[in-house]
Amino acid sequence: MEFQQVVGIRRSIRYFEPDKPVEQEKIQKILEACRVASCAVNAHWLKAVVVRRDDIAPADLEKMKNPVQANVIALAPVHIYFYGDPGVVNQIKGSRLKQLHDVGALNPTHGWSHKFVDEVVYPQILKPLTDNPFYPVALAFDCGVAACQGVLMAFDQGLGACLTAFVPEVVAKYTKVPGNWIPFYQLNVGYPAESREAGGQRPRPPFEEQYFLNQYGSSFPRDPKVVKELEASGLFTTPARPDNAERRKEIRDLARRLNLPM
Ligand SMILES: Cc1cc2nc3c(=O)[nH]c(=O)nc-3n(C[C@H](O)[C@H](O)[C@H](O)COP(=O)(O)O)c2cc1C
Repeated sequence: MEFQQVVGIRRSIRYFEPDKPVEQEKIQKILEACRVASCAVNAHWLKAVVVRRDDIAPADLEKMKNPVQANVIALAPVHIYFYGDPGVVNQIKGSRLKQLHDVGALNPTHGWSHKFVDEVVYPQILKPLTDNPFYPVALAFDCGVAACQGVLMAFDQGLGACLTAFVPEVVAKYTKVPGNWIPFYQLNVGYPAESREAGGQRPRPPFEEQYFLNQYGSSFPRDPKVVKELEASGLFTTPARPDNAERRKEIRDLARRLNLPM
């Protein structure tokens, strides 16, 4: 699919074909898309553990449910649990920056050398970052960037996906991750049981309230011509509406077929 169409068709899919298996190669492609994401200091804090729902004991799956994700995790055949590994910087120190230097990504034109990494970047930027109380917030941003690429890859392959919260204490029984990893979200993956449109593109706050030019309060001008171009390219699809009778029927049919409350 074209990039803009993938962005446009992605929405949180909460109805999956519960018994339709997802091919291992498609899961791998999701992880590969995460891996090629950009990451501050090339640290790559994001770690992921894939667990097939049917490998989870029913009693544990019950314990993994919370009020906002219970039916999503129950319907999705594949769970990808995302974590951040805060220990990575102390392991790699400046080595991944030196790698970037060696392959011509970080160059002397911009002040980079191995000496610069050892004497400036590691002691003055990287080490203090790990000591900062906001370090987990900073690395969460990087993890989100990477996970987002994986989400888009899922849709590019015709799958559906929805990020949800997870219950780390119960999930850890399966994932067995080191105790210092920070649990973030799980990506629920499967073949959608709902239509690809899934009722349309979900509501968003107005563009003008979110994005600014030069300073806060001065909205970035939204050119209607650009909006039209994005409608044509597929980045914008039909907006979801409360009065969409077709969607209401789709939900009723799904509830009946998947044995969900209505
Ligand atoms: C990090 C993250 C966590 C989320 N957690 C949940 C969740 O626990 N349960 C849920 O139903 N949806 C969850 N969502 C989906 C959002 O509620 C979603 O953005 C919203 O439904 C509308 O946008 P969308 O359909 O375009 O994704 C999460 C989304 C993100 C990005």
